[in-house]
Amino acid sequence: MEWPQRQRKKDRNIFKGRGCKQRYRIVLGSMHSLNIHKMRYILKSLALIVIILIFGYIFVTSVSEDSIVGGHLNYFRPVSYIPMDPPYPHMESNTKQTKQTNDQSGQSSKTNLTYPSKSIVCPPIPPSLVGKLKVNEVVHKMDSIEASVGSEMSIGGKYSPRECMARHKVAIVLPYRNRKAQLALFLEHMHPILKRQQLDYGIYVVNQADSNEFNRAMLFNVGFVEALKEANWDCFIFHDVDLLPEDDRNLYTCPDTPRHMSVAVNTLKYKLPYAGIFGGVVALTKSHILTLNGFSNQFWGWGGEDDDMANRVAHYKMTVSRYKPAIARYTMAKHKKEKPSEQRLKVLKDGHKYFNTDGLNNLQYDLVSKKQFLLYTSISVALKHVQPLARPTSNS
Ligand code: BGC
Ligand code: MN
Repeated sequence: MEWPQRQRKKDRNIFKGRGCKQRYRIVLGSMHSLNIHKMRYILKSLALIVIILIFGYIFVTSVSEDSIVGGHLNYFRPVSYIPMDPPYPHMESNTKQTKQTNDQSGQSSKTNLTYPSKSIVCPPIPPSLVGKLKVNEVVHKMDSIEASVGSEMSIGGKYSPRECMARHKVAIVLPYRNRKAQLALFLEHMHPILKRQQLDYGIYVVNQADSNEFNRAMLFNVGFVEALKEANWDCFIFHDVDLLPEDDRNLYTCPDTPRHMSVAVNTLKYKLPYAGIFGGVVALTKSHILTLNGFSNQFWGWGGEDDDMANRVAHYKMTVSRYKPAIARYTMAKHKKEKPSEQRLKVLKDGHKYFNTDGLNNLQYDLVSKKQFLLYTSISVALKHVQPLARPTSNS
C-alpha cells in the first residue's frame, strides 16, 4: 500500500522516542483513518453479496414447483448421489481395461461354481462384472446377434440367472420408432451386461406405430402397463435406445429413490448439462411409478417430458440419486439431432397442474401388435391424444 508522502513523514515524527507496542498501535490507527471509508465500502458490498446469495439459494431450492418458475426449477435443484464405490476397486486403477461384452453367454464358469443353486440369493455385488467396457458401433444382423448373445434366454428377451435367485426383477422399456440399427447395437451390447449383473429381466421395445409426433413419455407409460401384464416387475428402467453403458458396474437396479443413470454421456462431454436433468436412462420402482402417476402424456415431439418427470419426482418429495460419473458413463450411438418441440416449454410450465390427472390414469392407446423375439418383446401401439382427467382417479 502506498502511503502519501506527507503522512509518512508525520508518522516518522510520531514514532520518535516511543516503544514498539505504542508504535504498532499508531500504525494501525493511521491506517484505519486512511482507509476507513474504503473498508466500510468493501465490507458493505461483501455483506450485500452474501445476503443476495443466501436469499437466492433459499428461493431456488425451496420455492415449490407450483410457482411460475416451477417448470424450470430443476435446472438448479441440488442433486444427491448414491455414494457408490466401484464394486471392484482394483478395476478403478486399471483404466485401460476394456473387454468385449459379447461373450457367448454373459456368464463365467466361476459364477456357476460359486453359486450352484437357485435357492441361494445372488450376492449384492455380482461376481462376474468386468468394469469398463468397449462399446462396439458396428451393426450386425439380428440372427448373428441372437447367436452370439442369446444363450440361456427365454423368448421375449427374458432371462434369469441359473446359478442363484435374482435380487431384482427388472423390465427395461425402450421407446422406439425406426431405429433398427440402434436397436441391434443396444441388444448386442446390453444382454451380456444384464446377464453378468444377475438380473431377472426382460426387454420391451415399445414402437409408436401411429403417424403422430413421437411421444417418448407416453410410450414409457405403455411399456409399464404392458410389461406388468406379463410379470410382476418391481423395477423399471426407462431407456433411450441410442445409449450404451460404458461400465457394467452401473447396475440396472432400482434403489429406494428414483435414479438418473445416464450421468456422463460422451456427446455431452461426460457432464450433466444441468443438475436436474432426468433424461436418457432412469430407474424407478413400480411403486414410485404408481405414486407419480407415470409420465405425462402431453409431450408430443422432442423434449420436456423428462423435465416434467423430474418435477413429479420433486413434487412427491423423492430425491434423485446418481452413481458417480466415472461409472455411470454412456456412449450415444450416432444419429441426426432432433428438432425440439416448440410447445414443450409451455406444456412443462403447466405440467404441475396435471400430475394426478395426466399420466397412467388417462393413458389411451390401441395395441397394434405384440411379438416375442428371442432378444426382446416388441409392443406396437397407436397412441391417442388425451386430455387430463377432470378429477384424479386411482391409477393402481
Ligand atoms: C429438454 C430435455 C432434454 C435435455 C437434454 C432439455 O432442454 O427439455 O428433454 O433431455 O434438454 O438434452
Ligand atoms: Mn439421442
